[in-house]
Amino acid sequence: MIDVHCHYLPAVDDGAQDLQSALRLIRLARADGVRKLVLTPHVHAGRWDNSLGFLLPRFDAFRNLVASKNIDVELYLGAEVHLLPESLRLLNEGQIPFIGGWDGMKVMLLELPGGGIPPNALAAVRYLVGQGVLPMVAHPERNKTVMADVSSLEPFVEEGCLLQLTAASVIGEFGSRAYRTAQAILKKGWAGVVASDAHNASHRRTRMKAAFRFLRKHYGETVAERLLVSSPERLLNERQTLCMDTMARLEAVRW
Ligand SMILES: [Fe+2]
Repeated sequence: MIDVHCHYLPAVDDGAQDLQSALRLIRLARADGVRKLVLTPHVHAGRWDNSLGFLLPRFDAFRNLVASKNIDVELYLGAEVHLLPESLRLLNEGQIPFIGGWDGMKVMLLELPGGGIPPNALAAVRYLVGQGVLPMVAHPERNKTVMADVSSLEPFVEEGCLLQLTAASVIGEFGSRAYRTAQAILKKGWAGVVASDAHNASHRRTRMKAAFRFLRKHYGETVAERLLVSSPERLLNERQTLCMDTMARLEAVRW
């Protein structure tokens, strides 16, 4: 499986706090059946002032450390970008690490405020799409507006946004409302990928294997495979073909 949303890069946000716990989380992910991971630190101005320039050297050092420990995983750098004007400025400056590509567009993991969908969110999404950036909405099943009315996501789906469900929500470990909302999104056929959004080894851990089994049982093998394997793989494949500006800088450093 491929996990396109996790907080394992040490000491850059509220995920892994040091190298030892980050290494432990990578090993736990591998044991959970994940072989490729996009590390997605928060980019959230005023809270976690991360940018590509700040994250890239830290990511490279961490990737080298993981390789030296002979852990059989491939790591990529992405980010979870909070919907803020500052994030759009970073985007214009080429300072946003993307997740990958989709239909020729760069994919940005976009975090809406958990409290709801702000009135300007759709306009921001349209602006991004106009810039060739496709938002992948992070964990919509945990958004209060969506939990109250899942059809509030419809305009985002119509704009082509990918929706990323959290593995723990899918299996019911993120509360009953997130569970019900995740099932409603799945039943509408709107889910794009399932990812862990794991932060630690206790209450925010990787649950990829359990989510795969749940989906296989309730929605069929094809759906489970698409959400946890083939669609994430497609994101990564297109990452390598998008060889311009930010992605080129990322790939140039990596290979
Ligand atoms: Fe996250």
